[in-house]
Amino acid sequence: MDVFPNADYLERNNPLQPGQRPFRLARGFFITFEGGEGAGKSTQIERLARKMRAKKYDVLLTREPGGSPGAEAVRHVLLSGAAEPFGPKMEALLFAAARSDHVEQVIRPAVERGSIVLCDRFLDSSRVYQGVTGGIDPAFMTALEQVAINGMMPDMTLIFDIDPAEGLKRATLRRGSDAGADRFEKETLAIHQARRDAFLAIAAAEPERCIVVDASADPDTVEHVVTAAVFAALEARAPARNRQAAPV
Ligand code: TYD
Repeated sequence: MDVFPNADYLERNNPLQPGQRPFRLARGFFITFEGGEGAGKSTQIERLARKMRAKKYDVLLTREPGGSPGAEAVRHVLLSGAAEPFGPKMEALLFAAARSDHVEQVIRPAVERGSIVLCDRFLDSSRVYQGVTGGIDPAFMTALEQVAINGMMPDMTLIFDIDPAEGLKRATLRRGSDAGADRFEKETLAIHQARRDAFLAIAAAEPERCIVVDASADPDTVEHVVTAAVFAALEARAPARNRQAAPV
């Protein structure tokens, strides 16, 4: 059995760009993508990464749970449902362990060398899935979050918002049937609705970090919205004159 089925995730999603010297920023930029099931995050991240690479930005595309070899090992335990019988607190601790490894091994080094890091899910997923719908004490979740990220707060978070019934339909279509639903997709519509509300509450509470994207629109429209928001933030943060070609 392949124990770590997606251990090559970083390799697959970060092709070498032969002959190109990508730009790096004075300090990198860390963007996270959040939302419920079937919101189209992964498609949009890939499109954005392609677009940024075409403009010669140095981009690292990664995801949670996972993104580093240690965290990918924990991903399998979490998404298969193997940790579910031990309760939401155990799952929250495992997500945090995976996140800590991912931050220290992959995200922080990339941001420090001036890359743009695009991460499919991050701390807001824990706040929502474990904290709100897992019913874990908020003080415990806050302490855990601080340990896991160790100061590595996203510069920008895009929250993909979609009616959960529609999102679950899309997720089922993507898989081909209900059979392959993971441990979190399987939950009731009411739980998915509570998650949507929780993501929107985070966006309302942290408007300087979060942007809500209407993910019910067609993929090209969503791409347009995402591109405009990200490039505007990047330009505000790191005008073109501060970009340097990465060393070869
Ligand atoms: P994944 O297969 O990566 O798909 P997607 O992001 O497209 O939904 O599934 C990750 C699942 O893990 C998803 O159901 C959300 C859940 N999750 C948490 O419950 N807490 C977390 O902290 C993270 C990062 C993910």
